[in-house]
Amino acid sequence: MSIDIKKIREEFPVLDQAINNKPFVYLDNAATTQKPKAVIKRLVDYYEKENSNIHRGEHFLSRKATEAYENSRNYVQSFINADNSHEVIFTSGTTESINLVASSFCKKFLNQGDEVLISAMEHHSNIVPWQIACDENKAHLKIIPINQKGELKLDEFHKMLNDKIKIIAINHISNSLGTINPVKEIIEAAHKKNIPVLLDGAQAMSHIKVDVKELDCDFYCFSGHKVYGPMGVGVLYGKEKWLNKMPPYQSGGEMISEVTFKKTTFNNLPFKFEAGTPNVADVLALKESLIFMSSLNYNDIQKHENDLKEYLTNNLKQLDKIKFIGTSSKKTSVVSFIFEDIHPSDTGIILDNMGIAVRTGHHCTQPIMDFYKIPGTVRASMAIYNTKEDIDRLIEGLKFVRKMFS
Ligand code: ALA
Repeated sequence: MSIDIKKIREEFPVLDQAINNKPFVYLDNAATTQKPKAVIKRLVDYYEKENSNIHRGEHFLSRKATEAYENSRNYVQSFINADNSHEVIFTSGTTESINLVASSFCKKFLNQGDEVLISAMEHHSNIVPWQIACDENKAHLKIIPINQKGELKLDEFHKMLNDKIKIIAINHISNSLGTINPVKEIIEAAHKKNIPVLLDGAQAMSHIKVDVKELDCDFYCFSGHKVYGPMGVGVLYGKEKWLNKMPPYQSGGEMISEVTFKKTTFNNLPFKFEAGTPNVADVLALKESLIFMSSLNYNDIQKHENDLKEYLTNNLKQLDKIKFIGTSSKKTSVVSFIFEDIHPSDTGIILDNMGIAVRTGHHCTQPIMDFYKIPGTVRASMAIYNTKEDIDRLIEGLKFVRKMFS
């Protein structure tokens, strides 16, 4: 391997502490990733030396902050290989990015009797906005089913395609199953019927190289905090041809061109979709997180995380009454499981006492839990800084849980 995990860990101060008097093991990276020093420093530097509102001042700091903000946009553009920087809209996160499209796109393009297609493995934030949009427009929400392994039933998907569908919204990678979806096949099939596709990329950005041009997706949404960046900032990438036709999502300062009491005209992209004072500090720090990602190689990331996933999976198989939830062969480093006779929350609490952080519960994917008829799972999600020692600690903790409940 050509990455030095020890060196990488040194960049993440939060990892170097004791929780409940035990060295901290952080395996909840699908919920949020930890932040490298460069990201933290950028936030502090901005507030210590540069804080100023952007796009609206002639003074030195305002110009400097504006330039840095637009620099971040350019960095994101090149990181995801978008054609234009004005196709990159800063939002508060994936949830807002999806809400923006569900609200604005559907206002313009969704009519009575139309359909929106999502899948049975979506996070609530890629379900509820579409439910609301369908209700508002008297349209129907249709669901691509999944199989027991937690994979999309592609045959069903192809059969479901029809002219009434106005948009398809699916995740690139499932947060609770880890499944990597065959999004290229879905996009190609959808485009044959001129249907645009939105990808929820919240779980993908830190694991796989995202190239929106190669994917040819119409919208791509992600959050800074799941790619080693700050919370409270995210991105909506949208093809210019759609964004230009979509009405504003929120209104206020910056998104306007001219306001009179009779009429308001709207600003150009990307500002049409960025009403109000933006989250400047976090946008600047997001760039640092992407620089951190650029310093690594995605093949190395995948190899390391895949090794950890395999190591954990093989060790879990040795424990009694373990059931895996999400067993696709195309999976990222998310391992969801339950002890058949122990509530996931009990497992989570005991692990926490041992200084081990995993997530337990439904992971904001209640329909998946209903599908498997379980209350929730224990989910260990690995990132670039995790080690085999972390996995050993988790297994040791789970053996203890197993013993307590036997
Ligand atoms: N969507 C995040 C998770 O899966 C919060 O944990």
